[in-house]
Amino acid sequence: MRIVIVGDGKMGRAVVSLAEARGHTIQAIIRGAENDGGRALTAERLKGVEVAVEFTQPGAAVANLERLIDAGVPVVTGTTGWWDQLPRITAHVERQGGALLHAANFSLGVHLFLRAAQDLARRFAGHPEFDAFILEEHHAAKLDAPSGTARELQGRASSADPARTFAITSLRAGATPGTHLVAYDGPYERVTLAHVARSREGFAAGALAAAEWLPGHRGVYTVEDMLFGESG
Ligand SMILES: NC(=O)c1ccc[n+]([C@@H]2O[C@H](COP(=O)([O-])OP(=O)(O)OC[C@H]3O[C@@H](n4cnc5c(N)ncnc54)[C@H](OP(=O)(O)O)[C@@H]3O)[C@@H](O)[C@H]2O)c1
Repeated sequence: MRIVIVGDGKMGRAVVSLAEARGHTIQAIIRGAENDGGRALTAERLKGVEVAVEFTQPGAAVANLERLIDAGVPVVTGTTGWWDQLPRITAHVERQGGALLHAANFSLGVHLFLRAAQDLARRFAGHPEFDAFILEEHHAAKLDAPSGTARELQGRASSADPARTFAITSLRAGATPGTHLVAYDGPYERVTLAHVARSREGFAAGALAAAEWLPGHRGVYTVEDMLFGESG
């Protein structure tokens, strides 16, 4: 496939290496300095591109997505921290008949973990002697907090046990690619469920799988649509 990469950061570079190893063609890598407001995403630059993979920053993603959708390029984005704009972007995709797949977390393990966390919350419902909390930890350079995955975890757990509060604590330090944990702490014991990402390759592989899946689809998808389909 001919792919354009928007964002030459840690994730953009991880996707490039994996895409090249899988025989895809990287038509262009769009860097921050040349792309204020998405201005580098021109028809000329995007000619022949089959899919875009966008990993930038919360303040840059929305303009990039709009430009790519306007150009008719299906776009996979993993950028976090712009979800308040999702209704606007969804309307834009629908208006233009475009395709967008977004995910706060592209690792397969995290999506199985989220389902397990929902099940665990259901089992702890009605046991108020346990205090629940969520802890998420990322490298010092991550701009948004709490992480999109922690918010998703909170939403899933709350939907399974609406009577309980799942407060999130965020830690930003060092180089860890991402750890999420939900715990139930009782007077005599603690139950913990955690997902620990060991490297960025898992996220890059998921994003690339999404880039291979998305062309030919129309509308807005999450990575769960790709992983689990309609069966949910
Ligand atoms: N969904 C997932 O699985 C997943 C996994 C890891 C990370 N993330 C998220 O993905 C995003 C990127 O993470 P990262 O670790 O790659 O961050 P990073 O290393 O800081 O890279 C971000 C890159 O975006 C570039 N950028 C900023 N504005 C841009 C624009 N308008 N056009 C093109 N490039 C632009 C920056 O370039 P300049 O510095 O030159 O401006 C920088 O190279 C973050 O939101 C992070 O939370 C998601």
